[in-house]
Amino acid sequence: MTILTNISQLATCRPQGAQGDLHIITNAAVAWDGDTISWVGSEKDLPENFKTHPKIDANKRLVIPGLIDCHTHLAFAGSRHDEFEQRILGKGYIDIAKSGGGILSTVKATRSASAKQLLNHCLDITKQMAALGITTVECKSGYGLDIENELKTLRVYRELAQVQPLTIVPTFLGAHMVPPEFARDRENYINLLTNELLPIIAKEKLSNFCDAFVEDSALTLDEARQVLKAANNLGLNIRLHADQLSDGHGAELAAEFGAASADHLECVSEPGIKALAKAGVIGTVLPYSSLFTFQKPLDARRLIDAGVKVAVASNFNPGSAPSFHLPIALTLSCTLNRLTPSEALKGSTIYAAQVLRLDKQIGSVEVGKNADLAIINAQSVNEWLSQIQSNACLTTIKGGTTISS
Ligand code: NIG
Repeated sequence: MTILTNISQLATCRPQGAQGDLHIITNAAVAWDGDTISWVGSEKDLPENFKTHPKIDANKRLVIPGLIDCHTHLAFAGSRHDEFEQRILGKGYIDIAKSGGGILSTVKATRSASAKQLLNHCLDITKQMAALGITTVECKSGYGLDIENELKTLRVYRELAQVQPLTIVPTFLGAHMVPPEFARDRENYINLLTNELLPIIAKEKLSNFCDAFVEDSALTLDEARQVLKAANNLGLNIRLHADQLSDGHGAELAAEFGAASADHLECVSEPGIKALAKAGVIGTVLPYSSLFTFQKPLDARRLIDAGVKVAVASNFNPGSAPSFHLPIALTLSCTLNRLTPSEALKGSTIYAAQVLRLDKQIGSVEVGKNADLAIINAQSVNEWLSQIQSNACLTTIKGGTTISS
């Protein structure tokens, strides 16, 4: 058994209560056996017989559950820095996409990259994520857009899960866009996804999730519905890139499927929000995207007031969100999306775990859950997230083992 003591505030992030209820314990301690939490409470209540066990001293700092980044496009090759300048000079994200740049330029580079190159890129990033207090990362495909390269990406994620300590949750996003070779034959790309790729993914258990991007430059609502229906029939959980650059009724489609989440939602309508609330779909806010696409950020209070839980993620990708710094995304979700720091933290711990259907194992500091923890150089969540810092995480513990300090 190992015991983490001298914690000024422990944000347990238990699921009960409102978005901002973190169920904080002051002057706390946490104990674990192997990789599993066995005791949580006030340090003064630590059982007498625990006193002889090895201790880690939190030095009166804040302790949180390991952070969960529930929306990333981790495996990609190439760079889109020229588009950054074009967007500043006024060219729209969709205009760039329609002229063959954007996602398609990353598809070209990712198809040319070997599995080894993609794996090395992912390893480099996950190591830096661990240092930020992140212990679980969702990773989408969607820069392959053909059988060979979508499978290559998902197999890279499978290997990644085995060779580094973070929990990796792969998501199939073959419905990210229609690739150029199918531009005049869109129906056959949808058939390829539904009749060929999805059955292989289900058979090889390469992903438990299927995502789609509904947008003017990506899939129509009906195309996305066909893909999601096929995924649903194979037992995959559904997620959706919804209402990002225009209101395409993506929220309503996510509700129709009882999706694990509807992500983006910058342009969501009031009926869309009502549909999410009724279906119990979590809304994921991705503040880097509005920052980098010069869009009006989503007012997440609209979701919370309607009874929709809000998750927060980085959306790390080379175009609309070129950063994997989740703690800064949390601060931006406060300044841009009007979440409180406590609400942002719940959105990147237990609610993110619910999105990934892993909330029985991770996302909160509770007996029986994985000992995934981060020690933060602050006394409170407000103090931590009210500033932008290069890294406030002092120590990251994954399954009871210190993986970064
Ligand atoms: O979530 N919106 C679609 N997909 C990504 C962007 C990917 C890219 O620009 O390469 C997103 O923002």
